[in-house]
Amino acid sequence: MIVLIGFMGAGKTTVGRLIAERIGVPFVDSDLVIEDQQQRAIKDVFAEQGEAAFRDIEEATIAQLLAGPAAVLSLGGGACGREGTRERLHGHTVVYLHVDLDEAIRRAGRDDRRPLLHDPHLPDLYAGRLEGYTATATIVCRTTGRRVQDIGLEIIDRLTGTADGDGTQGVLVRPAQATAALSDLAGRPGHG
Ligand code: S3P
Repeated sequence: MIVLIGFMGAGKTTVGRLIAERIGVPFVDSDLVIEDQQQRAIKDVFAEQGEAAFRDIEEATIAQLLAGPAAVLSLGGGACGREGTRERLHGHTVVYLHVDLDEAIRRAGRDDRRPLLHDPHLPDLYAGRLEGYTATATIVCRTTGRRVQDIGLEIIDRLTGTADGDGTQGVLVRPAQATAALSDLAGRPGHG
C-alpha cells in the first residue's frame, strides 16, 4: 500500500487521488470508508460516541484496509496516534505530507466536518502529532506553499526512485502510462 499521513489540511485526499490516478491503482480514504460503514458523518460519531470510540472504529477500519488490495490509502489526521496503527503501517510505503499549522488551518477553512479543527488547543494537538508522523513515515514531503501537481510529481519521482540522490529506494516500477501522465502533468517534454 501507499499510505498518506499528515495533519488536517495537508492535502492527503487531493494528492492521494492524483498519485492513484497516475500509477493506476484505486484511491481509498479511510474517513470515507468509516462514514460509509457507520452510515453517518464522522462528526456525528464524535458527538454521539466520543473521540475514543471514533479512534477504535478508525483503527479497526485501517487494519481492514491495510490487509486489502493494493491502493493509495489516505488516513485521517489522528490515525497515527494509535500505536497499533503505527505498527500495522510497518512494511507499507508511508508518505507524510507535512504542512505548517497556519496553512493547514487556511486550507481546511471553516469546514465543519472536522470536529477537532475548532479545538482551542489545536496548536498543541498539531505539535503533539509531529513525532508520530515522522516516526511512521517512509517519505516526508513538505507541502506548504506548493501546488498539488508539484507535490504529486515529487512523490511519484521519489517512489519510482527517479528523484536525485534523496536516498529513497524506489518502491515502484513506473508504468508507461504514469510516465506519459507525468510529462503531461509537469508540462515537460519526456520526464526522465
Ligand atoms: C481528524 C482528522 C480528520 C478525521 C477526523 C479526525 C484528526 O481527517 O479523521 O475529523 O484527528 O486530525 P482529515 O485529516 O482527512 O481531515
